[in-house]
Amino acid sequence: MALTELAGLDQTKGLEEWRIAYLGKKSRLTELLRSLATLPLEERKELGAATNILKNELESEYKQKEDLLRNAGIAAAGVGIDVSLPGRSFPKGHLHPVSRVLTEISDIFAGMGFQVVEGPEVEWDHYTFDSLNIPPEHPSRDNMASFWLDAPPKEPEGWRMLLRTHTSPMQARVMEKVPPPIRIVVPGRVFRYEATDATHLAMFTQIEGLAVDKGITMADLKGTLFEFARRFFGPDRAVRFRTDFFPFVEPGAEMAIECAVCRGKGCRLCSGSGWIEILGAGMVHPRVLKMAGIDPDVYSGFAFGIGIERIPMLHYGIDDIRLFYNGDLRFLGQF
Ligand code: FA5
Repeated sequence: MALTELAGLDQTKGLEEWRIAYLGKKSRLTELLRSLATLPLEERKELGAATNILKNELESEYKQKEDLLRNAGIAAAGVGIDVSLPGRSFPKGHLHPVSRVLTEISDIFAGMGFQVVEGPEVEWDHYTFDSLNIPPEHPSRDNMASFWLDAPPKEPEGWRMLLRTHTSPMQARVMEKVPPPIRIVVPGRVFRYEATDATHLAMFTQIEGLAVDKGITMADLKGTLFEFARRFFGPDRAVRFRTDFFPFVEPGAEMAIECAVCRGKGCRLCSGSGWIEILGAGMVHPRVLKMAGIDPDVYSGFAFGIGIERIPMLHYGIDDIRLFYNGDLRFLGQF
C-alpha cells in the first residue's frame, strides 16, 4: 500500500507526508522495530531481518521518487542541467604592460650577461646624489625635483631620506660592495616631483645598467645599447645616439628611437621631432668610481638608465603615458 501511494505522488509536497507516515518516528514500521526487543530471540531474528528488508526497500523507493520529482520540478522551471555545456569561464587578468616590458628588457640584458638586482625605493640623498657626483649645490639636483621624506637625518652622516628620483643610486651601492667585474641591471620605480603630461609622469619606471671592468670603452656601451634596441624594437627601427650631460658620467649620451606614431615625421607624441628619448647613458665618471672605492686608473665602466613607460608607447603607438596608470581596464585589457 505504501509503495502504491508513493507511486501515485506527483509533487514533492506529498512526499514528506509519506515519509513521516511510513518511515517517521511514529510510523508502524518504527513501532515494529522498537517492539522487536520484547520478542523471544528466534522470532526477533526472523522478524528483525524481514522488517529491515522492508525498511531498506521503502527508503530506497523514497529516495528514487524524491530524485524523480525534484528533477521534474527543475525541468518544469526551465532550469535543467545540461551537462554537455562548457563550464563558465571567469575573466582572467594579466600582467600590466609596463611589468611585461620590464621583464622582457631584463631578460634581454640577462641574455647579454647582466645580473638583475633590485634596490630600495626609499633612498638616502647620499646615494641618489652625492655619491653620483651631484653635491648639494649642484644645479642638476633641480632637474630631479624630489619627494623628501619627513624622517630624521641619518646619524652621524646627516644623510636625508627621499623617494629615489632614478635607479642610479644602485650604481654606487653595488660598486661600494662588489669588486669588478660588475654587470648588473636594476629595474624599479622612481619618483619625481614634477607635473605630468603626455610623456612625463611623477612616478615611472626605469631600468639601470652598469658594467665595470678593465678596458671597458664607449664602443661597449654603444654596442650593448644598439643590440638591446635591435632585439627589442627589431632591426628596422631607426636609433639616434648623441651626446648629453649627466654629472655621474663622462662622456654622457642619450638614445632616442624613431617615433612609432609618426615614423619620424613629427607628431604630438614626439613633440614634432620624430624621435622619443628613451635613455640616458655614458662612461662612469672617474670620481664616481673613486668614491665607491674602485681605482679609475685600473677600471672603467659604462652606465645607462632606460625609461620603461616610453618603450611600450613606442612599441604600440600609445600617445599618452598617463593611460598606463589611470586604471582603465578597457585600455590595459588590450595588451
Ligand atoms: C636619469 O634618470 C639618469 N639616471 C639616467 C642615466 C643613468 C644616465 C646612467 C647616465 C648613466 P633622465 O632623467 O634623463 O636620466 O631619465 C632617464 C629616462 O627616463 C629618460 O630618457 C626617459 O625615458 C625617462 N623619463 C625621465 N623623466 C620621466 C618622466 N617624468 N616620466 C616618464 N619617463 C621619464
